[in-house]
Amino acid sequence: MRYSLLLMALAASLPLQAKTLSLKSPNGEIELRVSDEDAPHYAVLFQGKLVIGSSRLGFDFNNAANFRGGFDISDSQRATVDSSWEQPWGEARIIEDKHNELLVSFSHPESKQAYKVRFRAFDDGVGFRYEVDADTPLNITRELTEFAVEDADKADAWWIPGRGWNRYEYLYQHSKLADAALVQTPFTFKNKDGVHIAIHEAALVDYAAMTLNQRRPGTFVAELTPWSDGVAVKTNGKFNTPWRTLQIAPKATGLINSHLILNLNEPNQLGDVSWVQPGKYVGIWWGMHINQNTWGSGSKHGATTAETKKYLRFAADNGFDGVLVEGWNIGWDGDWFHNGDLFSFTEPFADFDIQAIADYGREVGARLIGHHETSGSVSNYRKQWDGAFDLYQKMGVSQVKTGYVADGGNIKRIDENGLERFEWHDGQFMVGEYLDNVKTAAKYQISINTHEPIKDTGLRRTYPNWLAREGARGQEYNAWGTPPNPPEHIAMLSFTRMLAGPMDFTPGIFDMSFNGLGDNTNRPQSTLAKQLALYVVLYSPIQMAADLPENYLKRPDAFQFIKDVPTDWEQSIALDGEVGDFVVMARKERKARQYSGNDWYLGAVTDEQARDVTVKLDFLEPGKTFEAQIYQDGKDAEWKWRPYEIDIKKQKVRSGDTLILHLAEGGGAAVRLKAL
Ligand code: NOJ
Ligand code: CA
Repeated sequence: MRYSLLLMALAASLPLQAKTLSLKSPNGEIELRVSDEDAPHYAVLFQGKLVIGSSRLGFDFNNAANFRGGFDISDSQRATVDSSWEQPWGEARIIEDKHNELLVSFSHPESKQAYKVRFRAFDDGVGFRYEVDADTPLNITRELTEFAVEDADKADAWWIPGRGWNRYEYLYQHSKLADAALVQTPFTFKNKDGVHIAIHEAALVDYAAMTLNQRRPGTFVAELTPWSDGVAVKTNGKFNTPWRTLQIAPKATGLINSHLILNLNEPNQLGDVSWVQPGKYVGIWWGMHINQNTWGSGSKHGATTAETKKYLRFAADNGFDGVLVEGWNIGWDGDWFHNGDLFSFTEPFADFDIQAIADYGREVGARLIGHHETSGSVSNYRKQWDGAFDLYQKMGVSQVKTGYVADGGNIKRIDENGLERFEWHDGQFMVGEYLDNVKTAAKYQISINTHEPIKDTGLRRTYPNWLAREGARGQEYNAWGTPPNPPEHIAMLSFTRMLAGPMDFTPGIFDMSFNGLGDNTNRPQSTLAKQLALYVVLYSPIQMAADLPENYLKRPDAFQFIKDVPTDWEQSIALDGEVGDFVVMARKERKARQYSGNDWYLGAVTDEQARDVTVKLDFLEPGKTFEAQIYQDGKDAEWKWRPYEIDIKKQKVRSGDTLILHLAEGGGAAVRLKAL
């Protein structure tokens, strides 16, 4: 009694003591600690051990006092959520959202400035965001958020560089964490205990993208991509930042099985989205990338009425929903890379009769898929949005692929004063531009597939017509990239880029030898079976069969898998894998259209190393028999000289059985488990 009285007396006479608040995930394995010692800080523990040490929170502004030291925790509120929600389409139909929340208010005793930070702890990671409600506009010059990796000298990392000319289209590097200087997110690393962590962000709206700058060994600081005038983010004073996210898992596969990013996005704001349709498509596309056709007019013009009709017929005959046609509109002639202002999005080339094509599509039962390449001239594009989407809607087009080919920092806009400004693809200006484009398209019941996009942060939950995007090196690099994508590329993407959301990789190249085989030509460094596996491994609600129809007709045996595989899933499970080495995915089809909802699919890919993977089929419904239709590398297959050797076979399996799949060097396996 005496002792506690003494303590109370002490507390009253001392300046306010530093406070630390704790928030645990529902299963108790993840803990967040928030403190106001010196300045606002947080730390993260996993299974009782620090994984992110004491890390700063805050902002610097150019028109207000900074949010740094001197702020105390003045209030906090807690909440618990245990719910689930349904996706209109996705890698899983039902998403569980179980988390604990802590809303912390930081106030400055003298200036009375106040900032809130909302923290959420899930079993698969944590997220936090700043919530600001100031009365005057605030320009952020720096966000001070840190991620201080514990025992950083013993961690491995997988990453691509930030602020590069080639946007997100770099080969993933595997290095010691110390060698990751300025990196994009998702940024994946593994600590000395084998804990896998990916830092990213969720719900990037009206804010700049966050890259990570390793300013001190092990400590990454949020580095926001600035406007052309140097300011990072312009606000009216009332804003929420995107969520800063840490997916945390004891094994690599746990990162893929996490739904943290989706859970931190707002629910669907578009209402009835039954007009948004997942599906498969072919296109007048690869021919341009391998130089057989041109986007521009002339004797090699790909987008002709006759050619498009052929593709529509091929699509309809083989169960594809649509045909992407690039190079259909005025603007492609000449140096299209640098002449984005010349693009018209309503005027077709003379040899592209869009009305006749639309009519023919309706007759055979396949749709035209639209294409808007801007070459980064976004003001020229924006002023044509309504006209362009209106035309496409009249032509029965329900999906448009957009393109923003321009070097990083070179998106051209015309500002309020009529002056040219050059912006980054991932600064606040473009974050807004991409989203406005998606919202405008929604008014015309059109879905968007963005190339050269802003990175995905889970906005498909809020705007389900944002179907997919590129945002990494896709298949096109195998046609002309220096170097082409190496065999480990897919096993890298799965644990990095794919954590952000669906990717329009454009799988399914059957002819690897358009430049010859071997390892020093441009070609997919892949076996045929691996090309099939990509449809299951790389999630996207829209998947292209990217090769020329003639190459599919030559291999009807392997093509059967592409015809069968759905693109919308009831459930997905990452079964096995290591970052950059291999990955094994199982997915159950979602009941819709021709899909009964009973079949499962498996996809497995490896890097340059051959391996046999053992798959326990304990996810299958017990008591049922399935026909496993297996497409795996032949015993002598390897990607360099024998990519086509594929072993296609059928066998009966049941829950609890084991399949051993052979993956050749640069190979893979695809399996349909057809419910009998
Ligand atoms: C880059 C895109 O990724 C590719 O798919 C497209 O063909 C070209 N831009 C032209 O728009
Ligand atoms: Ca691209």
